[in-house]
Amino acid sequence: MSEKIFIFDTTLRDGEQSPGATMNIHEKFRLAQQLVKLRVDVIEAGFPAASPGDFECVKNIADHIRGAQIAALCRCNVKDIDTAWEAIKNGENPRIHTFLATSPIHMRHKLRLTPEQVLEKATAMVAHAAKYTRNVEFSAEDASRSDLDFVCRVFEAVIQAGATTLNFPDTTGYALPDEYGAQIRYLMEHIPSIDKVVLSVHCHNDLGLAVANSLAAINNGARQVECTVNGLGERAGNTAMEEVVMILRTRAERARLHTDIVTEHIYPTSRLVSTITGMPVQPNKAIVGANAFLHESGIHQDGVLKERSTYEIISPKDVGISTSNIVLGKHSGRHALRDKVAEMGYSSLSEDELNRVFARFKVVADLKKEMFEEDLEAIIMDEVLRVPESFKLLHLSAMSGSRSLPTAAVKLLVNGEEKETASLGIGPIDATFRAIVQLTGTTSKLLYFSVSSITGGTDAQGEVMVRIEDNGKVVVGQGADPDIITAAAKAYLTGLNRLEYLKKESKRGMEAK
Ligand code: KIV
Ligand code: ZN
Repeated sequence: MSEKIFIFDTTLRDGEQSPGATMNIHEKFRLAQQLVKLRVDVIEAGFPAASPGDFECVKNIADHIRGAQIAALCRCNVKDIDTAWEAIKNGENPRIHTFLATSPIHMRHKLRLTPEQVLEKATAMVAHAAKYTRNVEFSAEDASRSDLDFVCRVFEAVIQAGATTLNFPDTTGYALPDEYGAQIRYLMEHIPSIDKVVLSVHCHNDLGLAVANSLAAINNGARQVECTVNGLGERAGNTAMEEVVMILRTRAERARLHTDIVTEHIYPTSRLVSTITGMPVQPNKAIVGANAFLHESGIHQDGVLKERSTYEIISPKDVGISTSNIVLGKHSGRHALRDKVAEMGYSSLSEDELNRVFARFKVVADLKKEMFEEDLEAIIMDEVLRVPESFKLLHLSAMSGSRSLPTAAVKLLVNGEEKETASLGIGPIDATFRAIVQLTGTTSKLLYFSVSSITGGTDAQGEVMVRIEDNGKVVVGQGADPDIITAAAKAYLTGLNRLEYLKKESKRGMEAK
């Protein structure tokens, strides 16, 4: 009989701790909707005590999202726990997730507490959290570098105080699979009340072992895996959800464990996360990388054509990568588009969003002979994740060549007023960005720029991603268009609009105080 592994998704919390991967309130909400579709068991929505903005994001998700438990992280103190509860109390089966370090290094240098004080604090704070809910998780931070008998004492005490999930994190990504598996087995055998709770694991990828360690842990009795989409997370990231899920599914005969994840939503979720965070997925990444299902060598191609299973252990369709290719043409109507968009998992688009997607679709379909799901998805992302536009592109014409000076003429709507200018640059994109800077009067710094093609062929849409910074605030902008200079301009403007939006939000926050 196959036993269930609970999937605790922390993309919105530990994932957001990836340097540069900040998400705004709308993006977090959109991702939470997608995680429900994926059928994760728990969504860790954030760390409410970290800032008023984090609190608002978590509360927004807890108040409106149904279909998954909503967890909030908090340190082991009354104020953090009360703030976490305030944010999630209207959520579905809300979970308070409180943590305290148990390793000698952390207790001595960071907490400056003795083991007995840590034991006492953890117990008291779990008891405090349990006054609000029976759904309390306790994490022993840096557990894998802790004294195991001490962790057993702490875990037994917090179970008595009301914890229902116990998490044993490999916070620094230091553990090796056999060692980590043995630690989990030890806990299973030495904590008297372990059968009353779910034992959880949370692994970091500093040595590239997060997935292997998570597997070792569940093979030894853990029943919850904490993970993120695309393996995002602090430093080298966390356990990649898509890898754990597909390992259990692909090797079901050995694993005898399963998750409830709807695997066909894995790829769209991965794309959504990389678009929102501006963190591209490496091409050779397992399961969701662009090359994961491509066969380059002639021998492999020949084998796959004769019999897919010669070189493919997973069907791309099983993770939601479309193989049907062309989806719609320029003559397709609004109804066909609505059906296709729903089939792709975007059934929650409003009428207004659908209208905008349809208008863009018509323009792109006119330019491109064939429209693929990926094209449509890029348009949906662009339209649905859009923040209010302080700056809007009206017209762009760029010139470049081996003998001419790269020049761009740009016309924008800047806070409702039409403005235009022309600029020279090192290349046409540089010229375009310079013109945009002049027109918008902005001062942001470009941290990252990438261009890729959404599908194959010279008529493919180009997808540009930028990361820009202004006054310590970092945002991502993305744009797609058959013309890469236009895609770049759109990406840059999306980023600038996000910065403007953040400025206005924080001004509103200040005024409300
Ligand atoms: O890595 C870690 O230990 C954590 C805890 C807060 C669960 O993220
Ligand atoms: Zn972590």
